[in-house]
Amino acid sequence: MKQTIQIAIAGAGLVGKRHVAAIDQLKDVELCAVVDPGEDAQHFASERGLPCYGSLTELFANHTPDGVVLATPTPLHVNQALECVEQGCPVLVEKPLGTSAKEAAKLVEAAEKRNVPLLVGHHRRHNPLIRKAHEVVSGGEIGDVRAVHVNCWFYKPDDYFDTAPWRKKLGAGPISVNLVHDVDLIRYLCGEVVSVQGQATPSARGFENEDVAAALLRFENGAIGTITVSDSVVSPWSWELTSREYPIYPPTPESCYMIGGSRGSLSVPDLRLWSHHGGVQDWWTPISATSLTRGSSDPLVNQMTHFARVVRGEEAPIVSGFEGLQTLQVIEAIQQACSSGESVAIPKAKNNEFSEEKQGVA
Ligand SMILES: NC(=O)c1ccc[n+]([C@@H]2O[C@H](COP(=O)([O-])OP(=O)(O)OC[C@H]3O[C@@H](n4cnc5c(N)ncnc54)[C@H](O)[C@@H]3O)[C@@H](O)[C@H]2O)c1
Repeated sequence: MKQTIQIAIAGAGLVGKRHVAAIDQLKDVELCAVVDPGEDAQHFASERGLPCYGSLTELFANHTPDGVVLATPTPLHVNQALECVEQGCPVLVEKPLGTSAKEAAKLVEAAEKRNVPLLVGHHRRHNPLIRKAHEVVSGGEIGDVRAVHVNCWFYKPDDYFDTAPWRKKLGAGPISVNLVHDVDLIRYLCGEVVSVQGQATPSARGFENEDVAAALLRFENGAIGTITVSDSVVSPWSWELTSREYPIYPPTPESCYMIGGSRGSLSVPDLRLWSHHGGVQDWWTPISATSLTRGSSDPLVNQMTHFARVVRGEEAPIVSGFEGLQTLQVIEAIQQACSSGESVAIPKAKNNEFSEEKQGVA
């Protein structure tokens, strides 16, 4: 495999440009083309002296990229990723993998059959603080996970919706667009979710989606989780405002996840590990926290480095299509539970048919 990996970006919007910025930081990864029918993208590409195509079909007629990053509106993900897979081209699809788990499953299956690496852009898993949290929880430092609470509250300004009207449309509400990241992390940290209940409130701004939702999650290991999301609440308690992951968000010293175990608790992202003195389990014994140390690096850059390694056959996808599909199933179950008011069971993944090991790693 050649040294420099050529990546094409499809969708040079808000997050597409962040992927480009990540590529710019890497010596062995190069942007070779942009795919986006919009005028802004034409300017963006021409400023960089790069071709800009109106479709993936045009891209593949003119280039053979080593990989494609798909940062287009969510309803386009599955068909566009299928086009990459048909071309045998590894693809990193922005989250969520699709608007429907059924469609996304077809994509995952197609990638598996053609042995084409399919990755999902749950970039937070590439954050060193999440790796540390995972190490603590999976290493048993808080004992058995019994309860988890996730807070995902922030206020998106009106122009966020006005500049990209698809964000007002059905399927692009905060459950799908935002909570999907948190659900992915919670699955990663606490295990698989087997059933959900939920409640949601229609958008006060008149969009086609909810603007407040809450879900009750039951995990396979018996733990219970509560998770709430709103894009219309002014608050300091969200990943965006607490993780310091992306400087455009003003940081707060708060946390947004609390993971409770039989021997201790962990708050994330501040990584405070709480336990009673002497390691006893007793609410009359003083309790205090240790602040854990961890590395700090840009998860989008880490994700792009990882994508290049997957393309080279050096690593298996950390967030494979199958992982993205499982997260999407939980999101879909929350949406169904919110609209029906019923508890929704999540089918257990049948087997490792689409496992990381089989996702195109040499
Ligand atoms: N990982 C993250 O933290 C993160 C953050 C924001 C958005 N996202 C996801 O990224 C995706 C894009 O979101 P966004 O906010 O950047 O949207 P956006 O509207 O800012 O950008 C989408 C871009 O896709 C282009 N586009 C539209 N149709 C296209 C087509 N057929 N082919 C190629 N390009 C096309 C548009 O012209 C636009 O430039 C969504 O799926 C969203 O959920 C992920």
